[in-house]
Amino acid sequence: MCGIVGYLGSRQASPILLDGLSKLEYRGYDSAGVCVMSDGVLKVAKAKGRLANLFGMIDGGKAITGTYGIGHTRWATHGAPSDINSHPHIADAGRIAVVHNGIIENYIKLKEELILKGKHFHSETDTEVVANLIEYYYDRFQDFPRAVRRAVAQLEGSYALGILCQDLPGTMIAVKKESPLIFGFGEGENFIASDVPAILKYTRKVVYLNDGDTVIFTKDSVRFYDAFNDPVERVPEMIDWDISAAEKCGYDHFMIKEIHEQPKAVKGTISPRIRDGRVVLDDVNLTREYLENLKKIYIVACGSSYYVGCLGKYILEKACRIPVEPILASEFRYAEPVMGKDTLVLIISQSGETADTKAALEEAKRHGARTLAIVNVVGSAIAKEADDVIYTWAGPEIAVATTKAFSTQLSVIYLITLHIAEMIGTIKEEEYQAIICELLKLDQKISLCLTPEITAKIRYYAEQYFKVHDAFFIGRNVDCGICMEGSLKLKEIAYIHSEAYAAGELKHGPISLIEEGTLVVAVATVDSLFEKTMSNVKEVRARGAEVLGITTENFETEIKKTIPSVVSVPKTHPMLQPSLTIVPLQLFAYHVSLLRDCDVDKPRNLAKSVTVE
Ligand code: G6P
Repeated sequence: MCGIVGYLGSRQASPILLDGLSKLEYRGYDSAGVCVMSDGVLKVAKAKGRLANLFGMIDGGKAITGTYGIGHTRWATHGAPSDINSHPHIADAGRIAVVHNGIIENYIKLKEELILKGKHFHSETDTEVVANLIEYYYDRFQDFPRAVRRAVAQLEGSYALGILCQDLPGTMIAVKKESPLIFGFGEGENFIASDVPAILKYTRKVVYLNDGDTVIFTKDSVRFYDAFNDPVERVPEMIDWDISAAEKCGYDHFMIKEIHEQPKAVKGTISPRIRDGRVVLDDVNLTREYLENLKKIYIVACGSSYYVGCLGKYILEKACRIPVEPILASEFRYAEPVMGKDTLVLIISQSGETADTKAALEEAKRHGARTLAIVNVVGSAIAKEADDVIYTWAGPEIAVATTKAFSTQLSVIYLITLHIAEMIGTIKEEEYQAIICELLKLDQKISLCLTPEITAKIRYYAEQYFKVHDAFFIGRNVDCGICMEGSLKLKEIAYIHSEAYAAGELKHGPISLIEEGTLVVAVATVDSLFEKTMSNVKEVRARGAEVLGITTENFETEIKKTIPSVVSVPKTHPMLQPSLTIVPLQLFAYHVSLLRDCDVDKPRNLAKSVTVE
């Protein structure tokens, strides 16, 4: 949450900072600000609301001269979204400027101490405390790096910081603990950022900083220090993906672009891991002996990643005959779950930095469980900490509502399932081969869910239903998991109250909410359960619900006998069917969101990576 960027070079800094922030808005968009060293003073411009407000205020950055500075895009935690609470924050005497991503847990105590020492505060933020604490030590030592070190030693919590000192022109200091931060090497210029897309236009050579790292740099030099303040070498990595991956490329929104990228992304996740007709997971070290003694698998995650876990329960249990429990990371971390060496904890996270998920991972490790992370962002905290990691390789996902990351996480679940089932002998060779065959065609079948015909049909249904106040998603087995994700998509980007239920559970309470015109999205793709779900559909129709059916081609004629509004998707192996079923629900949420005039890519109050509890 919150994005930070820093530039130090010979070009005008503000336009570069604004450009960087535009790639980080997915991290928060309550306000944006920049601070640039301009004519010997720290000049700040900041504005509540979207980056566009700041952009207009400073003429795209042209209005502020100066060749180095820091920028920030905020997701409010301490203090309401307002101009005054926006970053960068300048210390009381105006000598220190700070941008911050994270949370300072002991900021109240520090603030009280600083007030007693004569510092004045203007905002409600924890970040202003950091700026003043550094300035306090700077006043004492007249040594910028030393002041930063002393101040940081007193901070409790998480932080990625970009810091400027008015008295030390041409130098910037960055510090990282538990919030992501990268350093980018340019020619005669250097960068810091929360994420690669912010600086990819300027450099591909980056260092993913470790926790505890401090970087002191000018435009021509850089020194890295570790958590013990010892000088260290940090070996740069070359980013091998292109900036176009983080741009809209002609699409109206990132979300629709990312929906359409799913075939490619899923193929990129699956095909390198199938060799000679078998799943090969080079990245993991799960021995046969370990798997044979495995008593339980937890799948721990938040949001859509958790719904992948809910699907994973059905998929893994069916094929591997091992008990699987999906659990929200925010619950897992405090629930004292029973686990030990014979427990595998699958951690799923697109960003690899979700606070609850990271804490759950640490909890699992503390109890001696083996941890396997499914992560998209390379070099992220969760990827670094887990015993094993399988990257989804979905490329950057910018829209706050996940689509391609979800689909690639699900693809990894299939691969893990086949890997474990084969190792412990719970799957017949014929079945294994049938799934592999369909896995290799999955990308093509996802493409068939994205044809202009299907899109037009969904747009038509979106036009029919976009004014509803409430929606219910019902389905059984894996369709129930897909309903959870479809329902979340609708509520998060179209602001429609929506709930997902196991279809059989409806009559135990929620059916009392069904009235004339309530929208029910019924998902029925599981052959053996089709008729059961249809019975539930009839129950809600009898009470006045409008039903939109999602099914597979083979059921199209049958379902139309009960429901006129139907979208059907191609059929694949039942284990893989969720990868196709989810696509029309993503498109439905997208089109409803557009029709309701919502901000598709940046829905209100949300952020893509949630680094607070
Ligand atoms: C936020 C995002 C969701 C995401 C969830 C978990 O709520 O808006 O799209 O599913 O966090 O994020 P993670 O990065 O851990 O998958």
